[in-house]
Amino acid sequence: MAQGVVVGILGLGTVGSGVIRILTGHQQELQHQTGCPISAKKILVRDKTKPRDLNIENLTLTENAEDILHDSEIDVIIEVMGGIEESHHYILQSLRSGKHVVTANKDVMALHGTELLREAEENGCYLLYEASVAGGIPVIRGITEGLASDRISQMMGIVNGTTNYILTKMAQEERDYEEVLAEAQELGFAESDPTSDVEGLDAARKIAILARLGFSMNVELADVEVKGITNVTTEDMEYCEQLGYTLKLIGLAKRTDERVELTVQPMLLPNDHPLASVQDEYNAVYVHGEAVGETMFYGPGAGSLPTATAIVSDLVAVVKNIRLGTGGNSNSRPLHSKALQANEEVESKYFIRLHVKDQTGTFDDLSSLFKEEDVGFDKLLQWPLEDENDPKSEVVIVTHLTNRAAYERIYKELENMDVVLDVKSSYRVEGGQVS
Ligand code: NAP
Ligand code: HSE
Repeated sequence: MAQGVVVGILGLGTVGSGVIRILTGHQQELQHQTGCPISAKKILVRDKTKPRDLNIENLTLTENAEDILHDSEIDVIIEVMGGIEESHHYILQSLRSGKHVVTANKDVMALHGTELLREAEENGCYLLYEASVAGGIPVIRGITEGLASDRISQMMGIVNGTTNYILTKMAQEERDYEEVLAEAQELGFAESDPTSDVEGLDAARKIAILARLGFSMNVELADVEVKGITNVTTEDMEYCEQLGYTLKLIGLAKRTDERVELTVQPMLLPNDHPLASVQDEYNAVYVHGEAVGETMFYGPGAGSLPTATAIVSDLVAVVKNIRLGTGGNSNSRPLHSKALQANEEVESKYFIRLHVKDQTGTFDDLSSLFKEEDVGFDKLLQWPLEDENDPKSEVVIVTHLTNRAAYERIYKELENMDVVLDVKSSYRVEGGQVS
């Protein structure tokens, strides 16, 4: 039997505990895969005295990171403590002292991934981060290895379980946003502070990581346009159902003519789009490659054991490479410099819901505005609203394909039009067009 590989773990929470369970429970399979034993030597925690839902008799816990980072017997660091500054510092320190790193930290990888991957390359180390995007789904390996020979044109993902759970329940059970969010918190899907999930930031971090990798382009988190789900209403859901759409929080990374668009926002998908059927807290990433066409990666985007599976699979890859004597991440520098699409280049359909005066000429005014921008109506609904003193109607329009600049001009005009009483909501409609 070859000499074993020794691991230090930063964090023993939800994911860290799962890592220990898999390392102990799957030891035979792991040895078979790698040809050597893997053992966890020390684990960093904030509080050693805290009761843990895990047998820790044979584990050495420490509250001092230096005990792990300076231990020359430790070959690989698994970072599952979360946060940004400290974990960034520990990952950097590990790589600089020649230790390979596996992390689940999307916050650090989205903000500092370019720098850390370069550091890994310069130090002949591996830095793997499968668990940082869509938890247990092997989407990063799918893109870097499975689709390595292709040119990716589009990645579209449901990459946040909390928001997908909320939107699924709102649509299926006709319950409003606040009520379902409270339930998701009680069930432990949503965190006590769910801001980064519901405002779209968590998904934006994951999309920035995917785009950098899939397009080999040095895009940053700040390049992702972000809009969350806090304003989605059950009325919007009902109209989506009538029109044959499903509303999802989508992270989109799209390449057209060598320029990319990165956005996270609630979008309407046709009901037959593969992502429309992804329910509850599940995640999925739809990837379109120029040669392969459509593919989709689906599964649990979070949770102790699913996320730990991704971590330990990265560890297996590192151990195999250590045994082969190969020298760390090699293609970490992006091939393309950043080229973002301008508003005039971003093509999409749009859904818009308005309250308008119920009077002769309202539709003439609306259609003149859309005609001026050369934007046609694809679908149209009108419904009278009960109000004896102030007759008004609800109007829902789905446009034909247009560019974002034209749509934004229309939207601005609608807000100021005499016949329009209120612009209730507006969403992008995606899913039918891949260039
Ligand atoms: P968690 O349950 O809060 O666990 C964090 C662990 O790290 C705890 O053991 C904590 O110690 C320790 N820790 C945190 N800050 C520390 C510090 N400054 N010094 C020493 N120890 C510290 O977090 P988690 O849910 O496992 O998430 C870990 C990472 O995985 C995060 O980056 C998260 O984004 C990512 N991730 C999580 C999931 C998921 O399903 N949870 C899915 C994908 C990715 P104590 O135990 O003593 O408090
Ligand atoms: N808060 C995240 C989610 C956890 O809801 O998907 C996984 O990153």
